Amino acid sequence: MHIVFAASECVPFAKTGGLADVVGALPPQLVKLGHQITVYLPLYASARRHLPDELKYAVRSITIPFRYYNRFAGIVDGGTRDGVKYYFVDCPELFDRAALYGTKTGDFPDNAERFALYCRAVLEATKQLGVPQVFHVHDWQAALIPIYLRTVYNLDPVFANCGVALTIHNAGYQGAFPPATTEQLLFPWDVFTMDKVEQFNDFNFLKGGLVFSDILTTVSRKYAEEIQTLEFGERLDGVLLKRAADLRGILNGVDYTQWDPATDGNLAAHYTPAALAGKHECRADLLHAFGLKNVADSTPVLGIVSRFAIQKGFDLLAEISGQLAERNVVVVALGSGEPVYENFFRGWAFRNQNSVSVQVRYDDALAHKIEAGSDIFLMPSRYEPCGLNQIYSLKYGTVPVVRATGGLDDTIEEWDADLSTGTGFKFEGYRAPEFLAAIDRALAAFEDKAAWKQLMLNGMGQSYSWEHPAKEYAAVYEEVALRRA
Ligand code: ADP
Ligand code: GLC
Repeated sequence: MHIVFAASECVPFAKTGGLADVVGALPPQLVKLGHQITVYLPLYASARRHLPDELKYAVRSITIPFRYYNRFAGIVDGGTRDGVKYYFVDCPELFDRAALYGTKTGDFPDNAERFALYCRAVLEATKQLGVPQVFHVHDWQAALIPIYLRTVYNLDPVFANCGVALTIHNAGYQGAFPPATTEQLLFPWDVFTMDKVEQFNDFNFLKGGLVFSDILTTVSRKYAEEIQTLEFGERLDGVLLKRAADLRGILNGVDYTQWDPATDGNLAAHYTPAALAGKHECRADLLHAFGLKNVADSTPVLGIVSRFAIQKGFDLLAEISGQLAERNVVVVALGSGEPVYENFFRGWAFRNQNSVSVQVRYDDALAHKIEAGSDIFLMPSRYEPCGLNQIYSLKYGTVPVVRATGGLDDTIEEWDADLSTGTGFKFEGYRAPEFLAAIDRALAAFEDKAAWKQLMLNGMGQSYSWEHPAKEYAAVYEEVALRRA
């Protein structure tokens, strides 16, 4: 079957979070199952660096009309990697920017226009380069594709049998814009109703995508349930409840060619469950990278790699930061994002220079070093659709302490010292004392070397490869195609 992937991120071309890992890893796995996969991405400045100086255009110019003017998009041939075909939507005035979605001061003001152009260009490009049986669209940035298909493109004969699967990676980001967006993007006003794209008087890309796609998926079973509730639905619980029969939870996989301490090229040493010694070297290398000196072996290293966003639960960490600094631990954190969290981490490190160290930036190699060199990994998320870092941690023998939400709950099992089962430590309520108690359980377990080794090995023995989820997605595509046949 021919599937077109539409997404705003994909490794190695553009990444702010786990979406990029998923869109990078799932297509090659689907190719192995015999499918034909084409991925369309915006041509950001970061993606440009992965292409030759002389761009090769598959389509030189597509006209994309807006209310008062036209824009023009080229389709750049990005070649084939691992059997996957890549195309890039080229519109420099919208995409040739240092960041993907915005700056420190907020989102780019023209994001509705940027991703509308992207979605419409993808549809137009497929008419020349190959219409798929199924569009697999990801998050709000690609959600206009099903909206266009079922509204202003609904009479186009080439799309008559095209189906759409939409994956929600994060319901907290919806692409909500003022009502006038309807006219700016040349939609008739009758799409701006509660049963279509309107959501609390906004033109909401994700909401429209949820209404118009054939099948909806999200990235863990637990999150699929959670988003149908008031607490986690981000005000989309109503429409998601209505579509509950078409909503599937498919847990993300991990690309173990990138995330395996036995082969990871970013590490000072390699290690495996049978030969763990290299992890100690990775720990020393990590402490050096963070400028932490004289850390005893009996002092556990707590690691963090994250977007600094409200979703990630660092308010809880801020609440316990004083108490945690009094424990026998050191903390290394890598992340960037909302200034309030960047400032918290900087201040915490400044007050505890011997035991807390933070690097505020995006650094892929350092993220790998933290996975390998830490003893414990912290993810106190407020909500977490899937979460990849805790799954990476398992493979690296780094024990996760997580809030029992979304994919964190689905992937981490609480350690049971009597039975020697489990892979980490979990807390239920979004409350600081519960988080601290979970960390304390981890610290107590760390004292018992034999038990700790068993706990590490339990995690390292887990396998979350893409093989199984790719089959689940393939089944979804079959189902979508069948409905549209
Ligand atoms: P989310 O997609 O919500 O950010 P995930 O856990 O699914 O959360 O994925 C996060 C991905 O982004 C991981 O691959 C992680 O290593 C990476 N990442 C996040 N912040 C940084 C950073 N500052 N530097 C390097 N990698 C980062
Ligand atoms: C989102 C979620 C994260 C998930 C990732 C990939 O960014 O926040 O939990 O792992 O998408 O699906």
